[in-house]
Formats: sequence, C-alpha cells, structure tokens
Amino acid sequence: MSGFEPGDFKRRDFLRAVGVTGGAGAMFATMGALGLAPTAEAAAAEPAFTAPRASDFTLTGKAAAKIVIVGGGIAGLAAAYELGKAGYDCTVLEAQDRTGGRNLTVRGGDAVVDTYGTQQTARFSDGHYMNTGPARIPQWMITLDYCRELGVPLEVFTNVNASAYIHTSRTSGTASGGGPVRFRTAKADMYGYVSELLAKATDKGALDKELTADDRERLLEFLRDFGDIGGRVTGDPAKSWRYTGSTRRGYRVDPGAAGTPGTVLGPVPSVSDVLASGVGRAFSFEFGYEQAMLMYQPVGGMDRIPRALTRAVGERKIHTGAVVTRITEKTDGVTVTYTHQGRTRTLDADYCIAAMPPHLLARVPHNLGGAVQSALEACKPESAAKLGLEYRSRWWEDDHRIYGGITNTDLDVGVIWYPSYAFHAERGVVIGYYNFGRDADAYGKLSPKERERRAVAQGVKIHGPKYRTELLSSFSQHWRLMPHVEAAWHSLEGGPDAARYAALNKPAGRVYFAGDHLSHTVAWQHGAFASARKVVGEVHGRVLRG
Ligand code: PHE
Repeated sequence: MSGFEPGDFKRRDFLRAVGVTGGAGAMFATMGALGLAPTAEAAAAEPAFTAPRASDFTLTGKAAAKIVIVGGGIAGLAAAYELGKAGYDCTVLEAQDRTGGRNLTVRGGDAVVDTYGTQQTARFSDGHYMNTGPARIPQWMITLDYCRELGVPLEVFTNVNASAYIHTSRTSGTASGGGPVRFRTAKADMYGYVSELLAKATDKGALDKELTADDRERLLEFLRDFGDIGGRVTGDPAKSWRYTGSTRRGYRVDPGAAGTPGTVLGPVPSVSDVLASGVGRAFSFEFGYEQAMLMYQPVGGMDRIPRALTRAVGERKIHTGAVVTRITEKTDGVTVTYTHQGRTRTLDADYCIAAMPPHLLARVPHNLGGAVQSALEACKPESAAKLGLEYRSRWWEDDHRIYGGITNTDLDVGVIWYPSYAFHAERGVVIGYYNFGRDADAYGKLSPKERERRAVAQGVKIHGPKYRTELLSSFSQHWRLMPHVEAAWHSLEGGPDAARYAALNKPAGRVYFAGDHLSHTVAWQHGAFASARKVVGEVHGRVLRG
C-alpha cells in the first residue's frame, strides 16, 4: 500500500491507505469529540444490538426462515450464530477446509498450500503457535463480548513495550549511526528535548499571545515533569529548562543493593541527532484508539474464537470445502450453486448472506445486478504477511530482557513481535515480519526458505547472531496468496458508506452482504461482527414483518 511508511502501523496512515479518512464523517467525528456536534454523534451511533430470539415469533404468525450463508469467516459464523438463537435454519458454505477465514492460528503439523501450489507445513513445538491473521484485540471491540459469551479465555497481548526496540537504518546526520534504541530511551530523549524547546519558547514569551501568565506557569510545570528537564535558571535562559538525560532512558548497569546505585545509560545524544534518527515515527502508534494498551488475545490462539463459534453453530450446519459457483436470486428465494468434493450441488433458501471476500465474490456469476458487481469490483484487495520463527531458546527474554511487545523497524520486515505467552518456556515463536503492501509482496515472491533467509538477515541487525543460530523453523503466511481469501483486507475508497458501495449496504433482493470491509473497522474482527449484526437485524426484521 503506498502511503505507508515501512513497518509503520499507524491508524492515520492505515485509514488513509484504505481510503476512509477525510470527508464529512471524519469531520463530524472530530466535532463530536470536541462536543460541537451532538446530533452527529447520535447519527453515528450503531443501534444497540439485540440478538434474535425464538420468542420474537410468538403471536406473529411468522416463522424463522432458511438462510444460506456464503463464507465461514468471522462475519459468516457470527451471522449463523446470532440467527441460530432464534431458530433460523442456517447453512454455512465455506470454501476452505476449515472455518475462520483470515482468523488462522498455525501450530505444528498444520499445512497451507498457497495459490502458487507451494505447500508449507509448520514445525512449531507443542504449545507454540502463530496467529497469522488477527492477533490483538482492543478492550472496546465487541470481539471481547463474543469471547465472554462463548467462554474463550483471554490474556494480555503486549502491543507496546518500553524495552522493545526502535530500529533505524538511517546513519547520516546521527552521531550514533543508526541501529536499535529501546523505546524507553528514544521516548526519554524525544519527550525531553521537545519539553526543553517548548519550555524555552514559552519562557521567552514566544507564546504570550496564546497563553496567560498563569497558563505559562502551568505549562512549564507540566513540561518539567513530562520531559524530566531542569527548571528556570534565573538570568540564564540558555541554562534553563535543559534536558540533560534522565533515568527514564534506562540503565547500563541496573540499580541494586546499597552501594550499587547503577549507571544511567549514556551518553545523551544531541537534539539534532535525536531528530535525525527518526525514532519519533514510532511513538504515535500507541495513541490510536485501536492500538492502545491494554490489548488482549485468546489463550492458546486466536482461532479459539471461530472454533467456539463453529461449535455453537453446529458442525453439521457448516459445509467446508464448498466452493460457491453461482448465486441466483429469485422472487421467492435464493439458489446457491457450489461444488463439493468434485460434485455440483445446489442449495435453496429464503435468504442469502454473502460473507466472502468481495473481490472473490465479484468472480462468482450472479444475477444481483450491475451496481452490486461494480461495488464488489471496487473493493480493492490489500497485502499483508507474517513470518513465524521458532527459536530453541528465548534469547529475547534471557539476553534482551524483552517479554512480549513489538520492535519497530524501518526495514522491509516492518515490525517484529515477541510472543505474549509462554514466558520463560524453553522455546518460543517470534513474528519475524509483519509487513504489508509492497514489502509483503516482495517477500511473497520468494520461496518460504528465501523469505526466512531475508528476514533473518534483517533481524540479525537488531538482535545479533542468535537471531540466526537459535532458529529452529519458520512458517510464512501471505494473505494475497491464500486460496479462497486472496487478501489481507480490502480498501474501500471513501469508506464503506461512500456512494459507490451503496449496493452492498442494502439487500440485493434476498441477498445481503457482510464482512469487515463493510464496516468502519476494516481489518478487525470487530468489523466483521458489527457487519454481521447489522445484517442479522435486517433479515430478522424483514422476516418478522413478513
Ligand atoms: N487489525 C490489524 C492489526 O492490528 C490491521 C490493522 C493495522 C488495522 C493497523 C488498523 C491499523 O495489525
């Protein structure tokens, strides 16, 4: 995706790349946040979701209908699960041999054949795994409500760690010559210098138009604490408010018992070196609504969620290996044609929920009209990839004292994730790359072994030789190359409410559309759940009204 800094996962960039920034929506959201547009807030709120109940049919003379759901990812499973609560007769057709869609946890023995026909079999040890798709859940997302309801146990996912690194390859203009810096150190320096500069400007009177005398004193008090800087030296503006380093940078020798106060990490780089290093690029990531700590993951793997949904829906209602080849909407129902184990079959239902990747649905013959077809074609598939590296030791914990979290790089690997589970175990799986766009595509063109080699060469720059010598095996997942998925997520220009997607946000006769692409949280399970709920409400309302 152009517009992305390599390895950068900021919401702003992400939204720009998937085309949902700007416009009235964003403006109203901002105004709403400022308390300027109370009516916009009401308009933007999703109606509260009430799951359909069997008792909703009492005295209506209506009955639950038959529904065919195309796609057994989170949206399709959630739709079947919610409709099932009211007794709807749902059948899920899933092209892959398992449910979950992009929610795929890979463990030892799991095999994936990509669209090139290349097979990889994971060799991870027992108890170790990689979440190749979704891997982190913020507290506000309804994904957690489903975990509660389905009894999926959670643990903290460490998205931000002061001990993890920010790696810069930039060498020009910096005394340090680039390389890895701990988040804590980079922040101490950047916050320190920004505080110093702002304090100096404030004290010089540069902000007298903006601030009252009281404001100025309060701001200075804040900056002193925020940047850990010195105070005013009367009569000496140059010596005032200076950042000269801080214990917040960390220690070269950690403090211990009496007599061993430790040695603070030094020397402190100049403001110019800190700016030139570019470390500041990695800070705003954790400010985002989606990425802020604390975050969560299901204990044992993200696929605990689709597994629990599959169990709740009932395995016999789900046909895996069922590839849909035609959708025909008729005045009184829908016929879905699919192939299963070499045979062509058809399924008739009252309604259909199409919850498969939109750019793949666009290749399925249907009679849903030109507006639907052009809207489907306008959903652009995007690339993202992850590489899991299993190590025979947890050197990142033992040697680097990093327990979970993410190292940010400006290399083509994007970010490197340390596992948030199995601390102090013998082995562990590190995510050696999580990249997207061009970087993901570049790795995707390589063989699995070459991907490993290239990514390991990058990781060695940050972590040293153990990144290579302790490696046991790897598994790489490229979502553009995953059969029946062929995308990490989709970008919808202008967002899901833009006019060109209108045909997907209402039924085409008896066919409804669902998926995270039809939500304001593209690339999150929350979006898939929210979209499924919206469609479930619409179908149920229609059936009740008869
Ligand atoms: N949800 C995915 C993740 O957290 C993709 C994503 C990245 C979505 C950044 C929004 C912002 O990695």
